[in-house]
Amino acid sequence: MCGIFGCILKNSNVAPIIHSSLKRLEYRGYDSVGIATLHNGTIHIKKDQGKIDEVHRIHNLDEMEGNVGVGHTRWATHGAPLKVNAHPHVDCTGQIAVVHNGIIENYSELKEELENAGHIFVSRTDTEVIPHLIEEVLKENSSASLTDAVLAALKRLCGSYAIAVISAKEPEKIVCARNESPLVLGLADNAIYCASDLTAFLPMTNKAIIVNDGELAVLSGSNYEIKRISDGITVVRQPKIIDWTPEMAVKQGYPHFMLKEIHEQPETLRNTLRLQEHYLDLMATFLDRANEVFLVACGTSYHACLAASYMFSKLAFLATYPVYASEFVEQHGKSVNIDSTILAVSQSGETADTLAAVTASQQRAATILGLTNVIGSTLSRVSRVYIGQQSGPEIGVAATKTFTSQLSILAQLAFRLSKKRGKISQDEMDCLAEKMEQLPQIVEAVILMQEEKVKALAHKYKDAKIFFFLGRGVNTATAYEGRLKLMEIAYVPAIAFPAGESKHGPISLIEPGFPVIFICPKDGVTHKTLIGNMMEMKARGASIISIIEEDDEEVKKLSDDYIEVPKGIPEVLSPIPFVVPLQLFAYYMALEKGLNPDMPRNLAKSVTVK
Ligand code: G6P
Repeated sequence: MCGIFGCILKNSNVAPIIHSSLKRLEYRGYDSVGIATLHNGTIHIKKDQGKIDEVHRIHNLDEMEGNVGVGHTRWATHGAPLKVNAHPHVDCTGQIAVVHNGIIENYSELKEELENAGHIFVSRTDTEVIPHLIEEVLKENSSASLTDAVLAALKRLCGSYAIAVISAKEPEKIVCARNESPLVLGLADNAIYCASDLTAFLPMTNKAIIVNDGELAVLSGSNYEIKRISDGITVVRQPKIIDWTPEMAVKQGYPHFMLKEIHEQPETLRNTLRLQEHYLDLMATFLDRANEVFLVACGTSYHACLAASYMFSKLAFLATYPVYASEFVEQHGKSVNIDSTILAVSQSGETADTLAAVTASQQRAATILGLTNVIGSTLSRVSRVYIGQQSGPEIGVAATKTFTSQLSILAQLAFRLSKKRGKISQDEMDCLAEKMEQLPQIVEAVILMQEEKVKALAHKYKDAKIFFFLGRGVNTATAYEGRLKLMEIAYVPAIAFPAGESKHGPISLIEPGFPVIFICPKDGVTHKTLIGNMMEMKARGASIISIIEEDDEEVKKLSDDYIEVPKGIPEVLSPIPFVVPLQLFAYYMALEKGLNPDMPRNLAKSVTVK
């Protein structure tokens, strides 16, 4: 998730406006920044790695001439957060500059094709193919306009993008376009803007136009024209007046970042399906060769590791050991050796306990693999191979979108390994791959259909003093995560167990009305046994709340309340949609108690002390 911005001003230099607008987009990413302006028929660029203020201190971003320009604040996906990878990116002649938010899936093929045609690339980004593609179109047809060239280039791209393009040859224009990444236009008397979201231009104007997927917009003077990318036909759309405050705009109208981030999950899951195959392959190769594999993490990331241990075992027949990072050195420090592999999972890549486990393992010559949301973080730097999970910054302290992304990537790794090892049939692989592709829509459906029900559930149980979360198999991890969310933001004590363990002690707590939440997908052998556990609880008067598949009539009958998830999800993938109602439940419980879910007491987003 990056932020893009473009601006044409009638009478003054755009650089200070781009700078201040990028500051408002900084929550979308902040590892590097850049601005390009058009002045005297030339493109001028200032860009560097670092946060906007740091880069401004060194380069004075306000001191650039030109009344047309674009800017970018970056959250690295392809290529480390270095100056060379910062946007804007240019073509070979330096006459076309592009800023981009999204992921170009087929960039390797395009890059190869363009390099063979003589184009010189300087960065490791996927974005750089775009200016070169535009340049190539213009080379082949010198009478084509910038708009035509951008339209032709876009047709070659697979993946997601919101882009803004300027060209020295048509210096009064910005051409912007969108597919699956957000883009809005802002209209003012003496200016026109394009941006990743309204926040960027809201202090200047509240008159906005949403650009839809598959559309391109040409800005010139203070006019705009929207066209469909597929056939170039003009689309008429009137501006809307937006009555959001700047604070609401940063949260895109959501009352809290946590809710915004829960709702972003279809998009962030889509991003995980666009990971570069060779990173997954490389990591799967390391895992395949490993003698022993430890999955090491804290908090929510640990729950992703716990789920992953089931995925690796079920799909790839690989035994892995999920370990709390804070316990790792005590538990395994002496036995780790050159044949050990540590897959460390950390959203921030900076959690002190996780890094301590990694350092201790490195000293004993173990292989370190990393999964993190922050490229450039310590974890990404110390890992032999790392995968960036591409979820964009997560601001709510409680991890939500980064958890489902971690699960998705770990499941993909397990698939890869399974393929390598020939452990499951082609039919099973195909079915899993198909379901994996559907997960973004499934999660979208859960949010759309169940949010109101979950809200009502939170209202009903708002005074409950304690909750029990039970799941079996891979959904033991979902139960743990549901409990953690509820405790951390709604301050409700909760217990989670593998359901089979509940009769070895915890069941003694049950008395009439005690709420027990069951995570109960239908696929797999756990369904039947979980029903047994439900009966045990029900017989003792517990209130049964179940998260079930749509047509699970048997469990519906046993439940006092239930939340439904679309059916047909393979068990190994089920934590991804099944955790979403639990995230929402914790969120609405916090609201019922008058708490701010974004800022739970005593907690920090990234814990950098041991
Ligand atoms: C803190 C956060 C948790 C997070 C954990 C691990 O405790 O409050 O939400 O899961 O750190 O963070 P990491 O960045 O390593 O995933």
